[in-house]
Amino acid sequence: MCGIIGYVGAQESVPILLEGLRRLEYRGYDSAGIAVLNGSGIRIEKAAGKISILEKLIGSSQPAGTLGIAHTRWATHGEPNTLNAHPHSDCKGRLAVVHNGIIENYTTLKTALANEGHHFTTDTDTEVIAHLIEKFYTGNLETAVASALALLTGTYGLAVISVDEPRKIVGARHGSPLVVGICADNEYILASDVSAVIRHTNQVVYLDDEEMVVITPAGIQTSNLRREAVSKKVEIVDWDLEHIEKAGFDHFMLKEIFEQPQSLRNTLRGRLMIEEGTARLGGLNMTVPELRGIDRVVLTACGTSWHASLIGEYLIEELARIPAEVEYASEFRYRNPLLAPGTVVLAVSQSGETADTLAAMREATRKGARVLGVCNAVGSTIARESGGGVYIHAGPEIGVASTKAFTSQVAALTLFTLYLGRLGELSPELGAALTRELAVIPDKVEEILAGHDSVREIAKAYARHDNFLYLGRGVNFPVALEGALKLKEISYIHAEGYPAAEMKHGPIALIDDNMPVVFICTQDSAYEKVLNNMEEVRTRKGKIIAVATEGDTHVASKADHVLYIPRTLGLLTPLLSVIPLQLLAYYVAVERGCDVDQPRNLAKSVTVE
Ligand code: G6P
Repeated sequence: MCGIIGYVGAQESVPILLEGLRRLEYRGYDSAGIAVLNGSGIRIEKAAGKISILEKLIGSSQPAGTLGIAHTRWATHGEPNTLNAHPHSDCKGRLAVVHNGIIENYTTLKTALANEGHHFTTDTDTEVIAHLIEKFYTGNLETAVASALALLTGTYGLAVISVDEPRKIVGARHGSPLVVGICADNEYILASDVSAVIRHTNQVVYLDDEEMVVITPAGIQTSNLRREAVSKKVEIVDWDLEHIEKAGFDHFMLKEIFEQPQSLRNTLRGRLMIEEGTARLGGLNMTVPELRGIDRVVLTACGTSWHASLIGEYLIEELARIPAEVEYASEFRYRNPLLAPGTVVLAVSQSGETADTLAAMREATRKGARVLGVCNAVGSTIARESGGGVYIHAGPEIGVASTKAFTSQVAALTLFTLYLGRLGELSPELGAALTRELAVIPDKVEEILAGHDSVREIAKAYARHDNFLYLGRGVNFPVALEGALKLKEISYIHAEGYPAAEMKHGPIALIDDNMPVVFICTQDSAYEKVLNNMEEVRTRKGKIIAVATEGDTHVASKADHVLYIPRTLGLLTPLLSVIPLQLLAYYVAVERGCDVDQPRNLAKSVTVE
């Protein structure tokens, strides 16, 4: 939610800031702004809408200056208009602040500051930070920032600049990520995430919560919020710009859908032990007796990661025979969950920064549970704060609608299950069958993708419908949820996912000849039952799009359209059945002229609760 960036160095800052903002745009895109220090003061430019609008506004009269900060916004407090766009300033316009997060006590602070004579011009929570820093400023920016932060309740990742100290950026984090890119020649970039710095450097310092950084061309100083020095490690990022560009695809989402054979290979690489029928996971940081002592698994996550976790629940119970349950992180964090010593909590998150998942994980840790992260973003907060975990290695995911992270999360949870299962009751034969099949899943995904044109045809035929229903059973029920989520996220069509049989308890009332129903009807244990549910829809003249197993000739007689996927083991079908649903959502959204990579009101990384 919101992306921030700051630059200090020898080059003109504006092109670097704008380019960085574009990389961060997936974090929020309802308004953007920039503040640049030049010899005479701060020039601030802001615009409602996407970064391209800010770029047009600035046009050829780019503010000159080699130090600046910028922001792309996902509004929390205050309408997404130009006035409320960041950066925000103090009464005299001597400093500028960009902020990602929410200041919960801003109303109280605003009233107190207004009573002291501070003049507010926006509806944002962030503006109080600027006025507090102004109030405390006595000649040292970082001291004033620390004094201001001490009064804030809420979350922030922020950057501050001041006319009075024109070669300095002060950054601080509490709950919203910040990273410093160490570039060549006394040049530094502060940003919400690595994607904004990777063009310039692969050397980064990740700030932890409650840390500050003071950046000047002479170097960076890191400290805690009490201004006590903290020494930080410089880390090397192992991906490059190519990973975050579109590579000829029309959208990041399409590129990421097509990357899945490779991203899945990356998740599985070096981890499958086919002979032994198990998986090798190096980062769990748990001994074998500890792993054998697990008597309950709680998976906590949001959005698509929550759907992947639901599949994890089926896998863990079925194969490892350990009770498992899935909780929305936003519920888990506030409901005083019971966590016995044998419980392991899996925090599943692509970004590793989702505020609710992070808070749920911290709550579980506070209660003494062992927490493992299942993350994509290396070095993210969840990955660093969890006691251990599994990186899914899907590579950077830019499209707001998650695709390759989902399949890699499911694959990683399967590996975790295999490992746990084989330490317990899972037979070597079944373990070997699963590992063998996992090894060929990427090739099968490739096969499905090769047939993308048939999905596009169906999408064209149904793009103008207002509602969709997605039905599946067993391990394909979460896939139905995910298919529906993909469609509503990017095409704004109302879609619901349901367990196929549950349809009779409500959704069936919606079915008429204008209602497309997507069935996941693969040949596994629930096949006959799903066919019956399909018949129930057909009787009521619903339009049926079925995802079925290659070679199944029967389904075609019941469905209006069939999308075939290769045969696999029942519990692994989600890795394949979700692919046509991702493509369907994508092509429907394109057909409707929607902004696929930046759907309205959404953000890739939800760093506010
Ligand atoms: C947002 C994104 C989703 C994502 C969810 C959880 O809603 O738009 O794509 O699934 O956050 O994010 P996480 O990074 O924790 O997996």
